[in-house]
Amino acid sequence: MYKTHNCGELRSAHIGQTVTLAGWVHRRRDHGGLIFIDLRDRYGVTQVVANPEINATVHDALAEARSEWVLQVQGVVGNRPEGMHNPNLPTGDIELAAQEVVVLNPAKNPPFAINKEDELIDENLRLKYRYLDLRRERMKRNLVLRHQVVKFMRDYLDQAGFVEVETPILFKTTPEGARDYLVPSRVYPGEFYALPQSPQQLKQLLMVAGVERYFQIARCFRDEDLRGDRQPEFTQLDLEMSYIHRDDILAMVEGLYTAMVKAIVPHKRLLSSPWPKFSHTEVMDRYGIDKPDLRFGMELYNVGAIFAQSEFKVFRGALDSGGVVKCIAAPGCAEYSRKEQDELVEFAKTQGVKGLATLGLGAEGLKGSAAKFINESEVAQLRQTTGAKPGDLLLFVADARAAANKALGALRLLFRDRLKLADKNMLAFAWVVDFPMFEWNEEFQKWDAAHHPFTMPRMEHLGRFETDPASILSDAYDMVCNGYELASGSIRIHRRDIQHKVFQLLGLTEEEIERKFGHLLEAFEYGAPPHGGMAPGVDRTVMLFADEPNIREVIPFPKNQAARDVMADAPSKPDARQLKELHLKVD
Ligand code: AMO
Ligand code: AMP
Repeated sequence: MYKTHNCGELRSAHIGQTVTLAGWVHRRRDHGGLIFIDLRDRYGVTQVVANPEINATVHDALAEARSEWVLQVQGVVGNRPEGMHNPNLPTGDIELAAQEVVVLNPAKNPPFAINKEDELIDENLRLKYRYLDLRRERMKRNLVLRHQVVKFMRDYLDQAGFVEVETPILFKTTPEGARDYLVPSRVYPGEFYALPQSPQQLKQLLMVAGVERYFQIARCFRDEDLRGDRQPEFTQLDLEMSYIHRDDILAMVEGLYTAMVKAIVPHKRLLSSPWPKFSHTEVMDRYGIDKPDLRFGMELYNVGAIFAQSEFKVFRGALDSGGVVKCIAAPGCAEYSRKEQDELVEFAKTQGVKGLATLGLGAEGLKGSAAKFINESEVAQLRQTTGAKPGDLLLFVADARAAANKALGALRLLFRDRLKLADKNMLAFAWVVDFPMFEWNEEFQKWDAAHHPFTMPRMEHLGRFETDPASILSDAYDMVCNGYELASGSIRIHRRDIQHKVFQLLGLTEEEIERKFGHLLEAFEYGAPPHGGMAPGVDRTVMLFADEPNIREVIPFPKNQAARDVMADAPSKPDARQLKELHLKVD
């Protein structure tokens, strides 16, 4: 037996027992005479002590040992001397007096400290030695948390009658708005599989197959620009249900997440139960973004009406050309210096607006770039509308509605971070519904699906395909939390004619429709039931539960920010023979 106990379990009750532990040298302290080793395994840390006067061989062996060596230690559990108890350590009352030490494997000096939690380590170094990084307490915690989240999802959905089904990774293009990863076929020269961007089509086909309630912890692959909350391969809790309406699915997922928070992160508070539900238009108007952080106020106000008679040419110009004047109030920032205000203006410009006007409601009257253009009556109305108080700084954007929303939405988040307005222990879940079905793509001068092309347009809007596609709403919904989009879903199209109409509007030719999606359209002709579903991101969920700043921290072996695996060095060049077998030529 390598060990009789683990390094986290010995207590005073074990005093006097002879035990064997095995683990890594977490810390070593040589006090001239006595040597102390903190021995670590997955479960914790136990102090081992060697006294040269009692056992010189053991003392010599431990004198050799260095950080991260793997040791087996046999000894007697003893009480720590008076004053040496460590209340911060579960095993802090005892120590192990070593009687025999076996070096199971020595270790090179690790490239970074495993035993210091708050040390800043270069991320690429951490990723190159991920197996060492994962030894650190924080990473170990995240790994276990992720396991708990996935297990909870499985158990909960099992209880609710869902069946877990595995769908293929080698498949055909399943568009979710990113590029596909392609896999060349050896057997069919010049032909490729595509890795699924999600199991979307397959889960719909499972509904046609009669599964009724499906889920999968599904790996998805998307070749897109990386961000803190995006990886080229990531995991969804993918689910789909038949014979349901939108609110049945929302209730199912809300029930799952509410129970999961209570079970796994009970220290987190929910904003409200049931979760609030907003229309897409409403969140854009009030928060300037489709994934609002609802943990704090600082909403966007449309103040155009207040300036209907204004002489201020910037506001006038925007209003006269069909734009808006909107503002936010930054609490306690009225005394911002000229320089600080200029920085805000520059920031706003990076968000695509022409300018930003400021108005500080100072103790000694108004300050800021807009002060001379805004009269007393307007200030009174502004205070009434926005609830701004003396000491607040009002920030105005006069521009087209979408641009004003985007810039003020970004400023709102800037102030969230700067003024620490958001409670770290709150999970502000909410639903966003009533999305537009299509978005105009300026670059390619064509319509795109706002969610994905399998989403059901509102039945009552079907007549607008030819006349006004922009006004068509869909039965899509998002679940948002703390400024992240945590899940998306929709009621799906289950009729061939409607699906065909959508593909056509998206600019697919008859030939493309048949080649890419013929199998799906055909399936709809064999009794496809009405169905819908959604897919919460598992990585983002764990990231929020773990208070981590990005999803790489909760993915055991992620790609770095340049989409590389720096440990194994992937992607990498294949052998010439492999290329030949795959009928590929690389320049
Ligand atoms: P969508 O594309 O919105 O919907 O994805 C659903 C959820 O998956 C997570 N997610 C990601 N997480 C990490 N890295 C990425 N690159 C990434 N992309 C998406 C997010 C997101 O909310 N088939 C539909 C779902 C459906 O309609 O049922 C879909 O994939 O948390
Ligand atoms: P101007 O009259 O151009 O000197 O601008 C007067 C003030 O309005 C300055 O503080 C500008 O930063 C601000 N401003 C300019 N463009 C906009 C805009 N689109 N929205 C809000 N404020 C603006």
